Amino acid sequence: MKTIGVVTTGGDAPGMNAAIRAVTRIAHWKGLTVVGFERGWEGLITNTFRQLTPRNVGGIIQLGGTILHTARCLEFKTLEGQEKAVKTLNEHNVEGLIVIGGDGSFRGALELSKICNIQMIGIPATIDNDVYGTDETIGFDTAANTAVMEIDKIRDTAISHERIFIVEVMGRERGFLASVVGVTVGAEVIIVPESHCSFDDVVKTLRENTRKGKRAGIIVAAEGCGKVSEMAKTIEEETKSEVRLTILGYVQRGGTPTARSRLLASLFAEKAVELLCENQGNRVVGLLNGKISSIALEESCGNSKPVDTSLLRINEMLSI
Ligand code: F6P
Repeated sequence: MKTIGVVTTGGDAPGMNAAIRAVTRIAHWKGLTVVGFERGWEGLITNTFRQLTPRNVGGIIQLGGTILHTARCLEFKTLEGQEKAVKTLNEHNVEGLIVIGGDGSFRGALELSKICNIQMIGIPATIDNDVYGTDETIGFDTAANTAVMEIDKIRDTAISHERIFIVEVMGRERGFLASVVGVTVGAEVIIVPESHCSFDDVVKTLRENTRKGKRAGIIVAAEGCGKVSEMAKTIEEETKSEVRLTILGYVQRGGTPTARSRLLASLFAEKAVELLCENQGNRVVGLLNGKISSIALEESCGNSKPVDTSLLRINEMLSI
């Protein structure tokens, strides 16, 4: 293997730059050339690229976002778009492509692998942490810490005004971020799509809390549960408490990556380059039971990672 490509696709996640840096430097250390494609799959379709060198990836380990930019690319979903991408990769003599992104990005890589012989390696990077084959994705720890920092501030107002706050956190259809954030901010209630929690249960818990003398409360809701404004109205009517709603939104996607996100990025990158050097392709690297490992790309794409619902049970005990 002489030349590898690298691309960041889907939503940006803090630590993607640390991964680009590590892929580039480790690949150069091993004598490989690295081509970075810009704006996700779009860069492969339009042949927009830049050579990545140990020097031009300097000073980025601490930056959120991705220096290669990213985009959600509709054309890549078509066979025609994918064929254009393969043509570009062949023009650059790319023998291995490292895709830094989430499960949607890996499904794209799997489609590409079906129409060419270029080895695909996925490096999981998404704040949603919803990639099968890794206990944690790059960016998840940073997003969780950002959300915790913001919700701690909201708690001050909740206590001072004796109000209930519903805070919606990101996570697409899944509750990984909400469950970890909920436990670590000391939420009174955590609502995730996986728990099928009803409004009635939430109201019951809050009424019970009032009876116990708790006059303020934080409800952490995953965006995948939807209807948070409706929920706020119902809770206000049913509990006669003042209820406010905060949607944290994109603050969770940006910002300086934590040490943990940077470390994962560096370790995943090392594994990804090593796999390519061993000519092992079509795999997703990850952290499984404390070890850096990898699973088949197809297996990662074909399975859904379960949310650890024990966190919700533990939170019930913690929030009495
Ligand atoms: O996948 C990361 C994520 O931030 C999700 O949590 C969220 O649902 C989605 O991306 C938002 O997507 P977009 O950037 O296209 O608005």
